Amino acid sequence: MKIKLLVIILLCQLSYLLNAQNIDLPSDFLSKKFYAGRREILREKLPANSVAVLFANAIRNRANDVDYFFHQDPDFLYLTGYKEPNSVLLIFKELQTANNGKQYNEILFAQARNARAEMWTGRRLGSEGVKSLLGFEQSFDAVEFSRYDINFSTFDQVLFFDFKNDVRDVPKDSTDLYDLIEKFKTKASYPKSNGVTLAIEPTKNNLNTTTLGSLLADMRGIKTKEELELLRKAVTISAIGHAEAMKAIRPGLSEREIQGLQEYIFKKYQAEDQGYPSIVGAGHNGCILHYMENYKPSITNKELLLMDLAAEYHGYSADVTRTVPVSGKFSPEQKLIYELVLRAQEAVINICKPGTSFKEIESTARITINKGLKELGFPITSETDRNLFYPHGCSHHIGLDVHDRGNYDSLKQNMVITVEPGIYIPENSKCDKKWWGISVRIEDDVLITERGHELLSFAAPRTVKDIEELMKQPSTFDNFTLPELDKVKPTIKQ
Ligand code: GLY
Ligand code: MN
Repeated sequence: MKIKLLVIILLCQLSYLLNAQNIDLPSDFLSKKFYAGRREILREKLPANSVAVLFANAIRNRANDVDYFFHQDPDFLYLTGYKEPNSVLLIFKELQTANNGKQYNEILFAQARNARAEMWTGRRLGSEGVKSLLGFEQSFDAVEFSRYDINFSTFDQVLFFDFKNDVRDVPKDSTDLYDLIEKFKTKASYPKSNGVTLAIEPTKNNLNTTTLGSLLADMRGIKTKEELELLRKAVTISAIGHAEAMKAIRPGLSEREIQGLQEYIFKKYQAEDQGYPSIVGAGHNGCILHYMENYKPSITNKELLLMDLAAEYHGYSADVTRTVPVSGKFSPEQKLIYELVLRAQEAVINICKPGTSFKEIESTARITINKGLKELGFPITSETDRNLFYPHGCSHHIGLDVHDRGNYDSLKQNMVITVEPGIYIPENSKCDKKWWGISVRIEDDVLITERGHELLSFAAPRTVKDIEELMKQPSTFDNFTLPELDKVKPTIKQ
């Protein structure tokens, strides 16, 4: 009887493993050719006689036996397309020769297949899947990394990102990320003091923890055609989310409901995630730059609502912010501040073209805002200084990270950046009381083209007139009602 049961379990596990790759996937994932191409370009950029070593992201614990949803390290994803944890990638500048004479210039050590684990936490590609689906010629189970015969001291440079020493060692698993990092440290003679590994000084011995970041910034900052397709989708989905929210907003809704409404729209378009924690802040809450609590149960007529939410689509994240009046009509003070921010945004968008420096972008936004605030009677002492009313930067790259790697000197064709000036006037600010509680950010995503730019987030209106017009329109969510929680009773007597 016991043997029969064992055979059934084994057969189930076998069929699970065989079926695991037979799944419906979106048709617009990036191809293995794309990822192989990225590795090839990185290899071209690597210094002579070097190897780049990259690790997958860590699994982070949420509580007890529940982990946060795994999100791949963007550099690792960019070079592999591999979406699993506990793996390490080696890219060699020159061809290497294995003991069996085989030549190779890259290896991915991947999570091993494991029917029981896959039943609980999801499918794994395993090294065979990595070869067939991700286009690697050399891939092994992670356990092989400790046996892998490599002498890092023979390379002029070993390029990697320094460790934060914040990865947990999973008990009874000798192939988790912690162990892979430890094995690498031993193999590469990463410096230790009394058994504690140290963050290393760049360029000490042949270990280099600075160059890889700048090589990848140069690559990731310029989007390829395939990446732009995904990024356009992420931005359009996000802009539609904002436009639909504008139609649905009315006094009495909660901040969280509006968050949920937008996030539902992202998911309706198959976006896997948000690019960052969603920000929906009414009135004073909008002055908190990264407000994520979204706790206010009922938004009110006199408030502005600042919504900074965007979708992540197949890894690529948009970044869009809109600020609208809850009543559907801006008050005179709200309108003055809103139109000043819009003017600053327009001034920046107008200079977005190859050659414009990020410095110019920042100063254009800041000068426009500070001048405008001064004209409105705000205590602004310098036109160019950061101040309480506009305390953040105007632009950053977007891509696999919402604050993406990229070069921050000057704009180049196929960069995608945000343009996001804002004005925040917390209660008790040193200005006329009539401004208190007003906060406005307008954030759009802009593609730099050969001679100028293209506004990718056009589907979310920006002018006072267009916003007020759209907010008058009915919403699909107008008649969406649910039972009141305390009125929900069992229908069958218990
Ligand atoms: N939208 C969030 C940020 O750029 O910080
Ligand atoms: Mn942003």
